[in-house]
Amino acid sequence: MTTTLRINGETHEVDLPGEVPLLWVLRDEIGLTGTKFGCGVAACGACTVHVNGVAVRSCQLALDDVDGEVTTIEGLGGPDALHAIQAAWVKHQVAQCGYCQSGQIMQAADLLARNPAPSDAEIDAAMQGNLCRCGTYPRIRAAIHDAAAAMKGA
Ligand code: FES
Ligand code: FES
Repeated sequence: MTTTLRINGETHEVDLPGEVPLLWVLRDEIGLTGTKFGCGVAACGACTVHVNGVAVRSCQLALDDVDGEVTTIEGLGGPDALHAIQAAWVKHQVAQCGYCQSGQIMQAADLLARNPAPSDAEIDAAMQGNLCRCGTYPRIRAAIHDAAAAMKGA
């Protein structure tokens, strides 16, 4: 069955069964490999993307259930026009192996859209479902504070 998806401002027609997880569609069908497969059971956050601006675990969202505009890390900002969160990540050199980081950034973008000036506790609560085996949590916190300040001034 053909499904029409809006991803990062572009329209895509995909011919896949409706139960295929969005993560597979993004990576294998569309070629957007910035979104990562970690656990496949909504336990790590590596696959986080936005649907209508809200963070979702794309490993658990069936193609049939995608209702709205999908944004991946590639659509948040690019090398020539980094999103404030991506710029803060670079400034704080957050990434180590990097595997979890696109999910972290998409989760952080969701947080800052809802709460433009989160406390440490609010950051920890919002980000607790995004695991980082490299332990970059202190840098993630610092970068989110920095991005919040930059976005406030924008
Ligand atoms: S791969 Fe989706 S939450 Fe881990
Ligand atoms: S940077 Fe390696 S898993 Fe997070």
